[in-house]
Amino acid sequence: MQTQNRKTEHLHIACSENVQFREKTTGLEKIGFKGMDLEYKTLPEINKKEIDLKTSFLGKKFSAPIMVEAITGGCEEARQINRDIAAACEELGLGMGLGSMRAMIENPAMKETYFVRDVAPSIFVAGNIGAAQLLNYPIEKIEKALCAIQADALAIHLNAAQEALQKEGDTNFKGVISAIEKISAKLSKPVFVKEVGHGIGFSVAKKLAKTKIMAIDVAGAGGTSWTGIDSLRGNKEIGETFWDYGIATAESIVECRRAFKKKIIASGGIRTGLDAAKAIALGADLCGIALPVLKAQQAEGKQGVKKYLEKIIEELKIAMFLSGVKNLKQLKKVKITRNNR
Ligand SMILES: Cc1cc2nc3c(=O)[nH]c(=O)nc-3n(C[C@H](O)[C@H](O)[C@H](O)COP(=O)(O)O)c2cc1C
Repeated sequence: MQTQNRKTEHLHIACSENVQFREKTTGLEKIGFKGMDLEYKTLPEINKKEIDLKTSFLGKKFSAPIMVEAITGGCEEARQINRDIAAACEELGLGMGLGSMRAMIENPAMKETYFVRDVAPSIFVAGNIGAAQLLNYPIEKIEKALCAIQADALAIHLNAAQEALQKEGDTNFKGVISAIEKISAKLSKPVFVKEVGHGIGFSVAKKLAKTKIMAIDVAGAGGTSWTGIDSLRGNKEIGETFWDYGIATAESIVECRRAFKKKIIASGGIRTGLDAAKAIALGADLCGIALPVLKAQQAEGKQGVKKYLEKIIEELKIAMFLSGVKNLKQLKKVKITRNNR
């Protein structure tokens, strides 16, 4: 019940308050070419209509390198939110993450609030669990939950900053890396690790590289602040101190790319297709978005989500056109510099 209430409160606060970082930015605005955006090829010498955004991730095809990040599951509102997002992603050929399966492991009746396979039979869908819960649940329980919702992969979220700000937070992170090692070796589905909006740096990515995880989702600072959300849930004084805490998304992508050779998802404050193009040029394979998608769903349901994601895809295409690149492989090679603009 406590988990369910917390989930509902998180959704309400995220939708009704300003929960983004205040001063700290993603750093993507500093990424460009000699102080500009991506290098503007005034003579692109390509046909925009021929730009190919297709990619694949952990065995599933994507029509564009975009996924909706883990948002919810385990409370009444979650059911419609997940179904609208899933149906929009299915129509567009994009992937999605479901929220933490903790509520469903505690109360199996909650499965219905996560299950989307009837409206999204073919896309990539990731199940989700918190690092702290990894220590409490046997692998078989997690495997069973993943099977029940027919997920393609498991995302493990590292959310020490968020837990530290919750009055009821789970702050025992002793043994998490060895639990990640074990589950990534044993689970029948691929495992990836994500933050929730405060970033992953070089030394942690290096440790993760020694496990069998298949991807890192940086979920860096500059977008939704989880210390901010939990500050608004009650821990105001301390929450203020840590509101802008974490590793900016651009830094996190660069540091994870240096330490980790498999797939990288850029997320945390990705708000336009131009942000996505910069993140890919910095080394990401895929980009993830959470808060604006939730807001689009709340405003206009499935159509709202679809419209928002179509805008992101079109912006990404334009950014690639103006950089003179016709596929993601070429985008990764676009020349970039970091400036202090
Ligand atoms: C309402 C809400 C609920 C979320 N719940 C989860 C969750 O259960 N598990 C998780 O790994 N991340 C969760 N996240 C974090 C997102 O997956 C994402 O990493 C983060 O919000 C940063 O992306 P953004 O700046 O585009 O929102 C949640 C985000 C929002 C907005």
